[in-house]
Amino acid sequence: MDLQGDELTDAVVDSFGGSRRYRELMSSLVRHLHAFAREVDLTEDEYFKAIDFLTRTGQISTGTRQEFVLLADVLGLSMLTVGLGNKKPPEATQSTVFGPFFVEGSPEVQLGDDISNGAPGQPCLVSGRVLNTKGEPIAGALVETWQADEDGFYDVQKDLDAPQNRAHLTTDADGNYRFWAVKPVAYPIPDDGPVGELLRAGERGPMRPAHIHFMVTAPGYARLITHVFANGDEYLDTDAVFGVKQSLIADFTEHQEDGKTFYTVDYDLVLATTEEAQQ
Ligand code: BEZ
Ligand code: FE
Repeated sequence: MDLQGDELTDAVVDSFGGSRRYRELMSSLVRHLHAFAREVDLTEDEYFKAIDFLTRTGQISTGTRQEFVLLADVLGLSMLTVGLGNKKPPEATQSTVFGPFFVEGSPEVQLGDDISNGAPGQPCLVSGRVLNTKGEPIAGALVETWQADEDGFYDVQKDLDAPQNRAHLTTDADGNYRFWAVKPVAYPIPDDGPVGELLRAGERGPMRPAHIHFMVTAPGYARLITHVFANGDEYLDTDAVFGVKQSLIADFTEHQEDGKTFYTVDYDLVLATTEEAQQ
């Protein structure tokens, strides 16, 4: 009764039962939240505005409009968590943010197939090998990929009957993966909701540099979630979600053939074993 200040904080922390980990998470969360409110001398007006912001973040969210994921991304929480959870050897491909546009059950394709399915954009041949940290090929690895089209939209942001620029395939005996898609372009993260308001209030931009998403799995190896970014993109240093790593930047090379333009990018994806990823 009559709890205030540190006594109130202690009482909330002590109120939690449950598993040891649950209590660790909740007591730290409560202590940091209370410390934040004390540090900034939070007013009731600001508190109600924050509650309204979170309420609207929930209200706009659907299966394909993941506003809370966006919020975590623009606050850098996703990338912080990626860093904490990915302690692997330097030879392994670095991980980056998952983002809100992955969809389970993408079409299965064969090596060399075109996954653009009519999406607007310049043709781009994406290839490489899936390797272990010794440089040996991993046959039969599952490579899932997704990316935006030339207009900067993922298929799930459009009203379509079939997926575009989204597929999964299995590496061949030499670890090769290969598919045609469109050349990715820089695009704004959805900014017509609460997260867009937050960015504008902070005079921040919504742009992400051009990239292709990959999620790669193989038995005995740690799952890799990453992107390949386009070298030279003007937003590499100002990614709205802080996801760029130098080692993930690759050249998208322009080619002309029979008066037609296409691009190629070649990038090897190196997996750490589950043991290597735990060290
Ligand atoms: C994406 O790359 O798909 C993405 C990542 C974070 C926020 C929005 C989009
Ligand atoms: Fe993306």
